[in-house]
Amino acid sequence: MATSTTTAPKKVGKLSTSVGLKIQMAVSGLIFVLFVLFHMYGNLKMFNGPEAYNGYAQFLRDVGYPIVPHGSVLWILRIILLVALVLHARAAIILWRRGKAARGPNQYKVKRGKKNQQTYASRTMRWGGIILLLFIVWHLLQFTTLTISVGADDYSALTPYDRMIAGFQPEVWWGYAIYLIAILALCLHIRHGAWSALQTLGWSNRHREPVFHGIAIVIAAIIFIGFMAPPTAILFGLIP
Ligand code: HEM
Repeated sequence: MATSTTTAPKKVGKLSTSVGLKIQMAVSGLIFVLFVLFHMYGNLKMFNGPEAYNGYAQFLRDVGYPIVPHGSVLWILRIILLVALVLHARAAIILWRRGKAARGPNQYKVKRGKKNQQTYASRTMRWGGIILLLFIVWHLLQFTTLTISVGADDYSALTPYDRMIAGFQPEVWWGYAIYLIAILALCLHIRHGAWSALQTLGWSNRHREPVFHGIAIVIAAIIFIGFMAPPTAILFGLIP
């Protein structure tokens, strides 16, 4: 009896195909961008004084009450963000491994330079992603769990407004530098990510490409200025 020497191709679910994973990255990335824009808008309330900013921080905890218990909407948002983050990172790792396997053992012989922009972009995305993950851990330890009190003895004794003021004083300039590096990484990540998502979703073509590149740069610039404005104003004593 003849035996087959070829192995049957492994069945891959729709979600695990490369296109499925790229769509997961695009959708979870979009959820993050929406959150980031909302968060940026909230932070800008620092310019309206302590009452406005503390009121906004309280609103995040009270929203939905008494229909739902205090903090429920915030917890739902946190869970959505966590799921989006896990899906985004998981898809990135699987796609990176597949790309590496497809390039084969000669990948290091590929010349770096203009011709190899794809490799440059994916390297920037990978490093940017790792910097952002580390930043999120630092950021949550500083402002959510209040484990690290930068520029003050104990954040739990301060209002949300005063924590921001303490965290970006000139004496703790390195605290500001961490945010500057992270927001730069975020903007590079979003700039390339937004462009690549539009390609995945099939909305881009040769005529639209420069427009989408332009849109991605404008979004990244708005996020950079919007996020860095409050810490920079605090650093230079413009918000007392
Ligand atoms: C200059 C940039 C940023 C500043 C000054 C900043 C500031 C803050 C502050 C003060 C809080 C606590 C708010 C409160 O007490 O209610 C917070 C929470 C948070 N931030 Fe940021 N943030 C920045 C950028 C980012 C970025 C880029 C991300 C994500 C990519 C991010 C993700 C979060 C998350 C997930 C929370 C926790 C929300 C919660 O669960 O309570 N932040 N941020």
